[in-house]
Amino acid sequence: MRWKTRLTDLLGCKYPIMQGGLSGIGTWEFAAAVSEAGAEGCLTAACSRTPDRLREDIRKLRNATNNPFAVNITIGMCPHIDEMLEVCIEEKVHCIETAVFNPEKYVRRIKDSGAVWIHKAATIDHIRRAEAMGADAVVLVGLDGYGFKNIRQLPTFTAIAWARRQIRVPLVAAGGVGDSRTMLAAMMAGADGVYIGSGLMATKECPISEKIKENMVKATPDHPDLIRELVAPPKPEDYREIMELRDKMPFEKWIPALEKVMLKHHDWKDVDPMWEMAEKLKDDRAADAVTSLGARPKGPFSFSCGYIDRVVTVKEFIENMVRGAEEIMEELAREWQLGRPAG
Ligand SMILES: Cc1cc2nc3c(=O)[nH]c(=O)nc-3n(C[C@H](O)[C@H](O)[C@H](O)COP(=O)(O)O)c2cc1C
Repeated sequence: MRWKTRLTDLLGCKYPIMQGGLSGIGTWEFAAAVSEAGAEGCLTAACSRTPDRLREDIRKLRNATNNPFAVNITIGMCPHIDEMLEVCIEEKVHCIETAVFNPEKYVRRIKDSGAVWIHKAATIDHIRRAEAMGADAVVLVGLDGYGFKNIRQLPTFTAIAWARRQIRVPLVAAGGVGDSRTMLAAMMAGADGVYIGSGLMATKECPISEKIKENMVKATPDHPDLIRELVAPPKPEDYREIMELRDKMPFEKWIPALEKVMLKHHDWKDVDPMWEMAEKLKDDRAADAVTSLGARPKGPFSFSCGYIDRVVTVKEFIENMVRGAEEIMEELAREWQLGRPAG
């Protein structure tokens, strides 16, 4: 089957699947494996730390694959953000993805460069604003996903179906997408493609502690701690306090503190910049650390753990997802006798 959607047309990838931005994890090697598997790999600029390293990493990624890839610039998390963006533009990165916070300051520069600009956000209001600013596509993360939360965030299914009625540019679904059925469901709800963070972490190429991957295999999405972490609203007093700190803390510390408040981590006052926190994921001890990494069995992952029953290669992960989706569609077409005259 040929997977042609508005997203594959825009990005030039084989399948309508994007790798999520992943602090400390989204290295050029990992992105290359995803691009080689036919999805849109994503180099997370924060992983490169410095503009010079980012330039080297983009070049290494380009040497490792002829397939398209994106660079994720997470606002508030990516160090040296202006210079990092300039490097992407100088290196003629085809797709620049901004994420998390208001991208307004960077939009003109990206649009003038001719790169495809994608913005990722957690609320429909924010992706609508990105569309109005000229985004070529938007990624909407539902509550089912891991990462930055917002008090106006909806569960993925509702978010995508509602956004479809309001957004004209290609819409990409994130949050709890981790297998063939969740991929198809997101697309039936109105997405032009899907975006995966947690699911891709349970792959051989993902540079995190093997223990976190094992925890992902063992974890179930109905664990009360995981439900609380992903779906419950933040504690009102913590939320009020972090919002009051907005202009009193360095932005690169405020953003990870806000993320922790939204994920209900009680140690939210004790934060390092996100790129430093993310480095810890390579250490086996991270798999046992309750406070900074959240739910049990521990690790920073979403409800996607429900669809992860073993650690496979990135290629197997993508192929299983796509081939499984094709089989489901063929089966449904047979059962429902699609393509046959009625009666
Ligand atoms: C460990 C981890 C680190 C992440 N780091 C980033 C990041 O640096 N920038 C970003 O935009 N999103 C980040 N995300 C969010 C993902 O890009 C994506 O939006 C999210 O994982 C989607 O939900 P899913 O986990 O259910 O697939 C991160 C997610 C995880 C699990």
